[in-house]
Amino acid sequence: MHREVAGLKVNGPRLWQDLMELGAIGFTQNEGVTRLALGEPHMAAKNWLISRAREAGLEVEIDPALNVICRLRSAHGSKAKTLIAGSHLDTVPNSGRFDGALGVLAALECARVLLEHGVTLPCDLEIIDFTDEEGYHNAGTIGSRAMLGLLKQGEIREAKMKGIPTFAQDMKRIGYDPDKIIEAKRDLSRMEAYLELHIEQGNQLESSNTAIGAVTGIVGIYRYDIRVVGEAGHAGTTLMQQRKDALVMAAPLFQLLPQWIRARNSKMVGTIGQLTLEPGAMNIIPGECRFIVELRSMESQDMIAIRELLKEWVASHPGSSIRTILEKDSVSMAAPLVEAVVRAAETEGLEVMRMASGAGHDAQSFAKYLPAGMIFVPSKGGKSHCPEEWTSPEDVTKGCQVLLNTIMQLAQND
Ligand code: GLV
Ligand code: MN
Ligand code: MN
Repeated sequence: MHREVAGLKVNGPRLWQDLMELGAIGFTQNEGVTRLALGEPHMAAKNWLISRAREAGLEVEIDPALNVICRLRSAHGSKAKTLIAGSHLDTVPNSGRFDGALGVLAALECARVLLEHGVTLPCDLEIIDFTDEEGYHNAGTIGSRAMLGLLKQGEIREAKMKGIPTFAQDMKRIGYDPDKIIEAKRDLSRMEAYLELHIEQGNQLESSNTAIGAVTGIVGIYRYDIRVVGEAGHAGTTLMQQRKDALVMAAPLFQLLPQWIRARNSKMVGTIGQLTLEPGAMNIIPGECRFIVELRSMESQDMIAIRELLKEWVASHPGSSIRTILEKDSVSMAAPLVEAVVRAAETEGLEVMRMASGAGHDAQSFAKYLPAGMIFVPSKGGKSHCPEEWTSPEDVTKGCQVLLNTIMQLAQND
């Protein structure tokens, strides 16, 4: 399907084919797509993108954080500013084909259309695949934060959980120097704006039959690694009254957390999605229970309030500890970019909804430093981070066309 806008149309079938080809990398039947950051399928996906971008005629660079930067040079030479359109190729375990991949491949499609029509923009256009958005190793959004100089001292040398390599270890394993990651930092004065097309990952668009979301803001995300320490022992010979079972000690918190959150703010969410028991055998009483608490809200004061309750709970459980993994506050998208997205959709005759994002994105890293904008397309049944994740070819094409229209508007302002 081709869609016309001011003479420029994206090639929907070509983009869909790219999505399906990329979606086969790391795909297993019934289990979906798994491309954990810096693992073999993730690196294969990066290499696949590099080939596609070179075939299209783009310059390609891999920066010291392993971000893949595909560049379409402007007519204005070295004085040109840079417009970034990015997202990520890594996935959570057993994910879908669209989260992250859509934003990168749609941006690539936009660049191809510009090249095919001989259009040179007044700014450079960079299509960027950011590394480890999903937080496989630790806090996530590593690539985008490295580009902005926002990585915390030592964070690439800390693993989120036992048994997971650090980002630095994985870099070394594949032949990159972790000490060089600071060199991924870019000069922001040369950057114009950041744009990201993404699936909604919720069901507001689908349930209201709206084609496009113009994102107004992204929730804050706070994450804590909590350890509750008991005493390991024989599961058969230790009487119940003699036990210090770390899981049983931690269990009340699993009920308290949702209660605290609901009492505080009906729009706030909190999840314990990762938990390990040590030593971790069916016939040993857990000596340690370690889990990650994640909080998300537009309101920092609410996340801070729950963090303080968590700290009080930990303080009242001797031997327990809490470590901050991430404290990222909510951000607003730049109002002129929200309106640019709305206009870009309306030019196509598409319904558009201004909406907040409950999922985290690389756009969040950029929003405090550059005008940032995001475009959402519907997710079938609101499902994401699971193999059932789906967006129709028609919605993919519409989203890509809105991205292209937005790029053209921003370039015209240059
Ligand atoms: C990223 O997908 C997130 O919202 O965790
Ligand atoms: Mn995701
Ligand atoms: Mn994503």
